Amino acid sequence: MTTLAILTAAGSGTRLGRDLPKALVDLAGFPLVLHAARRLAASGVVDSLVVTCPPGLAVEVGELVAHDPQVGLPVRAVEGGSTRQASVAAGLRLAAADVDVVLVHDAARPLAPPGLVRRVVAAVRQGHAAVVPGLPVVDTVKRVVPTSPDTVTRAEGPLAERVVETPDRGLLRAVQTPQGFDRPVLVRAHEDGARRADAEHLAATDDAGLVEALGLPVHVVAGDDAAMKITTERDLLVAGLLAEEES
Ligand code: C5P
Repeated sequence: MTTLAILTAAGSGTRLGRDLPKALVDLAGFPLVLHAARRLAASGVVDSLVVTCPPGLAVEVGELVAHDPQVGLPVRAVEGGSTRQASVAAGLRLAAADVDVVLVHDAARPLAPPGLVRRVVAAVRQGHAAVVPGLPVVDTVKRVVPTSPDTVTRAEGPLAERVVETPDRGLLRAVQTPQGFDRPVLVRAHEDGARRADAEHLAATDDAGLVEALGLPVHVVAGDDAAMKITTERDLLVAGLLAEEES
């Protein structure tokens, strides 16, 4: 039985303000997707990779990853969908018959260390069907509701909302990727999620959320600061410093 990592790299990364997809943006000399693939491979617990790629770039990105000597794993590439959830589902359809554990990892977290990958896979192999890395939340987090009907459509600009709840910060976790799954559970979660996405036009932002919706338990292991997500130019600067420190 083998472990497959689905590396999601099909996002446009518009918030980064570059004219190329985020996964291809350079970090310390290499594109984000290559950093992520190298660290998955270095874990020693991943047997093959499927990369979800931006439209029209499956061949280019697939070759980039497959021909990298530090990756050295069988690599397949597929065009992603219009949402992250659809991209993961497309990757999952390419899983070979002998795959029993599936990791889903975002190229937007290029520095997620090999030790974190091993921790997630070990927890799945110990019997947890769904595993997420989580970090304590340092900010106090509020749940809000819009106070005027047009607030929800205004992504930027002055906020018109009010606080309805302050959850106990000690019970909150910021979750990262890679997330790890028993393959049949992830397949069922995506089938169920696709039905809801069609009916409610709501796509999940992570895969564990789809497992939760089935009413199944999701196990948390310690996350890692280095698995930070790159969304803004500032994140890229911080990741650049971390990558320098690493080498
Ligand atoms: O947009 P965001 O940063 O939340 O995306 C998280 C990850 O999902 C990124 O690695 C991105 O490339 C990937 N993604 C994808 N297909 C999409 C949207 C995002 O593979 N349609």
